[in-house]
Amino acid sequence: GEPGAGLAVPQAGDPSLKLLSRIGVVDPESLDDYRAHGGYRALRRAFAIGPAAVLREVTDSGLVGRGGAAFPTGRKWQATAAQPDQPHYVVCNADESEPGTFKDRVLMEGDPYALIEAMTIAGYATGAHHGYLYLRGEYPRALRVLTGAIQQARARGLLGPDVLGQGYAFDIEIRRGAGAYICGEETALFNSLEGNRGEPRSKPPFPVEKGLFGKPTAANNVETLVNVLTVLELGAEAYAAIGTGKSTGPKLFCVSGSVERPGIYELPFGATLGELLSLAGVTGDLRAVLLGGAAGGFVRGDELDIPLTFEGTREAGTTLGSGVVLALDSSVPLPRILLRIAEFFRDESCGQCVPCRIGTVRQEEALGRLAERAGGPEAATDIALLREVGEAMRDASICGLGQTAWNAVESAIDRLGAYA
Ligand code: NAI
Ligand code: SF4
Repeated sequence: GEPGAGLAVPQAGDPSLKLLSRIGVVDPESLDDYRAHGGYRALRRAFAIGPAAVLREVTDSGLVGRGGAAFPTGRKWQATAAQPDQPHYVVCNADESEPGTFKDRVLMEGDPYALIEAMTIAGYATGAHHGYLYLRGEYPRALRVLTGAIQQARARGLLGPDVLGQGYAFDIEIRRGAGAYICGEETALFNSLEGNRGEPRSKPPFPVEKGLFGKPTAANNVETLVNVLTVLELGAEAYAAIGTGKSTGPKLFCVSGSVERPGIYELPFGATLGELLSLAGVTGDLRAVLLGGAAGGFVRGDELDIPLTFEGTREAGTTLGSGVVLALDSSVPLPRILLRIAEFFRDESCGQCVPCRIGTVRQEEALGRLAERAGGPEAATDIALLREVGEAMRDASICGLGQTAWNAVESAIDRLGAYA
């Protein structure tokens, strides 16, 4: 049928909304308002059922991480909780920096207590008493709103030595990033929190075993944590019934580019790319869509049947990543966009390992030449060079930045026929 038939643009207060239900409805500076709109029900339920049952609920819900990598949250929490080494930490990765991603910002600015409540539940389930919220430096409003909310929660006994009078101690500290994309990589983030250079560590060991200060750490994205409230409110089974079998629950999509209504859209996993884009209203003649941001990949403007799930995008040879959907109409100069992406990776590489430090420079140079003059024998040489450098970065880089720095360029060449 018509793309988008049966879907309506979700409005503030729409009962189908889970993650965005309070955004634009509650006063983000009022704890009372939060409580009047269902706030702290999930934490009360967590205390009523105990930490082992919370771990079970989160596992059974099928919730997977929303930062981009889709790792099962229940497995991460179980592994952290099971570590004998003490203390345990909870870290919220709020360093949202993937180009085109702005969902966590909306959650933090519009519903800050939801994140505080969810971090408290994460701490309770994983046996942590201290949470760190690592906030992107360029989010001053989120900083102000969250700082106020944490103070309020502390003053009202919802953080501190005896949360809700249940004998459980938990508190949260905010730390600000300073503009480095790499500090969103979880181990670079730990180094940054510890006062060291924001350089990634080799994994394994995974953070669940050796994370912040070398201790067991559950590190989760903002949207992942906020989903836990829905899991506890609905119960694992009802939560798992939303979306598809492998991508359960609701998802936030960050729609931007050549659209009439850019913004955050909440839909159950499984809607198609075409359905989402018809809600946002494509302007002009759709040439391509960048999925997953700079670390993701392009699909053609006619591949609108791709289901927006982790498994569906994987099967289609692309990625959902953190939920970026950036539409490009045919007026957008693709070589300039690719050069901009390459410049971004060259700039943000931490320089720790050779394939990424040198590869991102070579990639930018080759794309610069290609942007000057497409076609011809020199173009073929540059494309061959890009492939060689790209494979080296993918195979031999320490962290996700280098491993994904060629994804978007590769997909533009192979899928969109850029420079052909
Ligand atoms: P990853 O696959 O290495 O890890 C994902 C998570 O699962 C991590 O927390 C990791 O510690 C955990 N994990 C993986 N295997 C584990 C195991 N065996 N035991 C315990 N824990 C395990 O991916 P990574 O590098 O953390 O993230 C890559 C993703 O980040 C990409 O998909 C990309 O789209 C996304 N990304 C998102 C950004 C944003 O602003 N939201 C920015 C840049 C990248
Ligand atoms: Fe740093 Fe790039 Fe190596 Fe990651 S892949 S550690 S960003 S140099």
